[in-house]
Amino acid sequence: MLIIKDILNLKLYLKAYKDKGYSIGYVPTMGALHQGHGKLINQSRDHNQKTITSIFINEKQFNKKEDFDSYPRNKGKDYDFCDSYNVDVIFEPSSDEIYSDNKTKLKNKYFQNILCDQFRPGHFDGVITVLNKLFSIIEVNKVYFGEKDFQQLKIVEKFIEEKFPNLQLVPVSTERHEEGIAYSSRNENLSKKQLQEFINFHNSVIQFTKNFDRQTQIMEANTLAKNFITNLVDQEFDYFEFRNANSLEVEGNISEARLFYAIYKGQTRLIDNIEA
Ligand code: PAF
Repeated sequence: MLIIKDILNLKLYLKAYKDKGYSIGYVPTMGALHQGHGKLINQSRDHNQKTITSIFINEKQFNKKEDFDSYPRNKGKDYDFCDSYNVDVIFEPSSDEIYSDNKTKLKNKYFQNILCDQFRPGHFDGVITVLNKLFSIIEVNKVYFGEKDFQQLKIVEKFIEEKFPNLQLVPVSTERHEEGIAYSSRNENLSKKQLQEFINFHNSVIQFTKNFDRQTQIMEANTLAKNFITNLVDQEFDYFEFRNANSLEVEGNISEARLFYAIYKGQTRLIDNIEA
């Protein structure tokens, strides 16, 4: 496994394999890797002859400095992790190199003012800004994104359609712990007690989603969702609602929906979405 830290060497490496006609898959990450990333890497390895993973904590997508500062970082472990998943190349650029030529933030225009975009203003601007850079450097065939960050996946899908039509986005279903919660880098910031509370919360949400007739309108279900979350004593949240999984609008019935939540345990913000 190679660890490449500069754009020039990465491009030379990619060119050598592209010239040989290899298909190359790409898994963008911000490190603190876990089995959710592992699933993306495995899919890329199944579909392609080479797999490249980038590790870059993109300051531009954190709308709060404390969130950036407390984002888990575990470089040594990340290298071993990638090695154990047979990644071919880790690309780990510096912020100076990524943002050297152009410091302007792109403006996201998809799925705005709802879910995470409503509560983390500017977050998706930062995400597409860095992906615009990374996709321009790492010109590959396929890129892998997890469904856990569902709104991100939908936005990136539109962004790729518009700006990188030769790149294929492959969505990958959420990898979950035995206890039901999704693998997430942010879980590392939870105490044992918070982790258990989160597991209990998630499982009560699963039970809640099972109560609905498949024909129930999303709008109607959201009235019950609001009661559910506000009746949980001391549970801080940004959103907890059903939305249509295609349009992300509050339209249609439950059989077309996912339940989206962003809650807090202490300072840690946790998001997930569940097929209803
Ligand atoms: O999902 C993430 O880890 C990040 O948002 C991404 C896609 C790597 C962009 O920084």
